[in-house]
Amino acid sequence: GSGKTYKIAVIAGDGIGLEVMPEGLRCLQAASKKHGFTLSLTEFDFASCDYYEKNGKMLPDDWVELLKPFDAIYFGAVGDPRRYPDHITLWGSLLQFRRQFDQYVNLRPVRLIPGVQSPLALRKPGDEKIDFWVVRENTEGEYSEIGGRIFTGTSREFVTQETIMTRIGTDRILDYAFKLAQGRPRKLLTSATKSNGISITMPYWDERVVEMSKKFPDVKVEKYHIDILTAHFVARPQSFDVVVGSNLFGDILSDLGPAITGTIGIAPSGNINPTGEWPSLFEPVHGSAPDIYGKKIANPVGMIWAGQMMLLHLGETAAAEDMLSAIEQVLGRGDFSEITPDMGGKGRTEILGRAIEKAILDM
Ligand code: NAI
Ligand code: MG
Repeated sequence: GSGKTYKIAVIAGDGIGLEVMPEGLRCLQAASKKHGFTLSLTEFDFASCDYYEKNGKMLPDDWVELLKPFDAIYFGAVGDPRRYPDHITLWGSLLQFRRQFDQYVNLRPVRLIPGVQSPLALRKPGDEKIDFWVVRENTEGEYSEIGGRIFTGTSREFVTQETIMTRIGTDRILDYAFKLAQGRPRKLLTSATKSNGISITMPYWDERVVEMSKKFPDVKVEKYHIDILTAHFVARPQSFDVVVGSNLFGDILSDLGPAITGTIGIAPSGNINPTGEWPSLFEPVHGSAPDIYGKKIANPVGMIWAGQMMLLHLGETAAAEDMLSAIEQVLGRGDFSEITPDMGGKGRTEILGRAIEKAILDM
């Protein structure tokens, strides 16, 4: 093992975040024990509705200084619309992290795990693997605050919102995506565009792709307009390797991708600051699931897989490989007493977490 120690900020948040977090930590501890590195965990109770109730805010005033020294943030889920509106809870915590910590890459794996029924059920066992990454620009693009509304409520009402693409912002996300593709066997990068309709910013995006591709001559590049690309995701998901998109297109593709590989309960996500200046954040894609919170049946795989992505980011590649193999092994055997109800089983959160922990230790 590397013998290194990593400082991890642990924020469980709300709802099933509190239930899946212990399983994620259990599996991470198993991987670190086996591979000879140390995770120094510090748990925080902020970024939750309980904290808000006690303190009237989602985060302590010194949250930036508090979190900056950590190597990564391991995050559960935040929000409970029955208690407080999402614009207070999510905007007051998770979205602050993404911006302040310049987590300009949003990264999601799309991988069909053995034993998981894809909604694309006509696929047969033995078909080509679905295994690709969606890289989303996470700080600018279509999600800008430049715009406004005038003549409100009159017949002249006028609303506008600008797309912002900076050269720095565009190039750094493309650089990340090209490097990710370069490190994979197929070395194929797919760019999402819409330069036939969005005639100023999207041609610029295409131009920067061409420019960046000169630095990565070994990476094959293809581009599709976002509309047909969504169709290809469904029709031939096995043909993708790394897919990169602007903030809006990446948002759409990063929900569609995991949707074709099964339940939301298993999908993880990374919000990455590749420079390392700020901590990156790893979380399951799902939210706090108030409808099942308390029943102890939440699927812990999204949380565990997010931990696996965190280890990859930290450079603990062998441990990360073991964690992914363990997930595949346990889901692959499809034991109904282990897998959770969202996957058709009778298992509970802790049973599935412990099964994956054991598989990691037995690898
Ligand atoms: P959700 O992801 O919490 O739940 C959607 C549906 O998927 C529910 O039926 C739920 O039971 C099911 N589900 C989710 N995770 C599951 C798991 N691990 N195992 C089994 N089933 C699972 O989304 P929803 O209901 O729209 O939002 C609930 C709250 O969570 C809101 O406050 C929302 O803003 C917040 N949220 C937070 C996110 C985050 O912290 N990153 C992301 C998405 C939503
Ligand atoms: Mg989304």
